[in-house]
Amino acid sequence: TETISVGELAKRMGIKATDLIKSLMKMGMMVTINHALDFDTAVILASEYGYEVENVAVDLDEIHESAPDAPETLIKRPPVVTIMGHVDHGKTSLLDAIREANVIAGEAGGITQHIGAYDVELDGRKITFLDTPGHEAFTAMRARGAKVTDIVILVVAADDGVMPQTREAINHSKAAGVPIIVAINKIDKPDARAERVKQELMEFGLVASEWGGDATMVEVSAKKRLNLEELLEMILLQADVMELKANPDKLAKGTIVEAKLDRGRGPVATVLVQEGTLKTGDFCVVGIHSGRVRAMQNDRGEKVLEAGPSRPVEVIGLSGVPDAGDVFVSLKDEKQAKEIATLRQIKQREAELAKHSKITLEDLYKQI
Ligand code: GTP
Ligand code: MG
Repeated sequence: TETISVGELAKRMGIKATDLIKSLMKMGMMVTINHALDFDTAVILASEYGYEVENVAVDLDEIHESAPDAPETLIKRPPVVTIMGHVDHGKTSLLDAIREANVIAGEAGGITQHIGAYDVELDGRKITFLDTPGHEAFTAMRARGAKVTDIVILVVAADDGVMPQTREAINHSKAAGVPIIVAINKIDKPDARAERVKQELMEFGLVASEWGGDATMVEVSAKKRLNLEELLEMILLQADVMELKANPDKLAKGTIVEAKLDRGRGPVATVLVQEGTLKTGDFCVVGIHSGRVRAMQNDRGEKVLEAGPSRPVEVIGLSGVPDAGDVFVSLKDEKQAKEIATLRQIKQREAELAKHSKITLEDLYKQI
């Protein structure tokens, strides 16, 4: 593959080679002026230092796949769904009910653990549910530019109606351009008033289809497992309208849904694959970390060897714990993965240093 020496790169950026070498050294990369950087890595380094590189892909995306996917490479992918709603309106209950109902009806294995995302099947079609702890995670991911959700399920308790966080959820979904399906929950309760909920939602432009609008609303009970299948059907219908597609035949790209440090296994990250197929053994970069996928498992704790578009998988083999919302990218080359991660660490450190020096300066002024 094409390479560029540290010296040549520094020259092209118009900075001293020694400065570049020093930056690399700070991170433990002992390189000489003649060290050959992978060309793609060099381009990223240049761009991260604020240099425009002409006629070259500077984006990880573009390294990853230089041309946009041709229409014939795209196949249907499952919808990715997030459940939102006011406190206590039954988000967790609904997620659990859907999952349990599906596991009992579906494959053996049962629910073994929580991985932050799971998928269910209806008539041979999959739906991926993200178990984000409320709006914060959704908002945090959006703030970081991650678009992971195709459809929002807005849970509104029929005995409580539209509340502040219902409103927030509607606003977030609208801002993100994500369609909403309303699940009017707790209809088993004697004081449930589903009609009132529909009435209240009209204020937000959500008009039930049975009232002549175009908002899908399903009356459910998580507790009594009422109309859950109907809700899943509505999700699939919405997905059909959206024509969700992705190319499975390339290196994977996805988003971190959650991650933690596990005592025995090291960093463990739940990745939602969005494009391509993630395979055991793949090299990858996630934020400032790199790694090689040592093993993957699904939400049932079963080992999987590959995961295609819209599939959530737990991955081990990363060098550190990434943040929710970080972009995950597979790469062919280990060296490239390590270099990109290292360069990002350098950049992050420099940004932190810059921040600190600014604070110090402000503090100085305050003292005067
Ligand atoms: P937070 O995570 O705290 O925001 O709450 P949540 O939206 O996840 O609600 P959760 O699922 O914890 O449910 C809140 C309460 O409502 C619990 O006591 C549930 O048992 C109850 N509940 C949830 N769904 C139903 C339902 O369909 N019918 C009835 N009767 N109770 C329900
Ligand atoms: Mg909950």
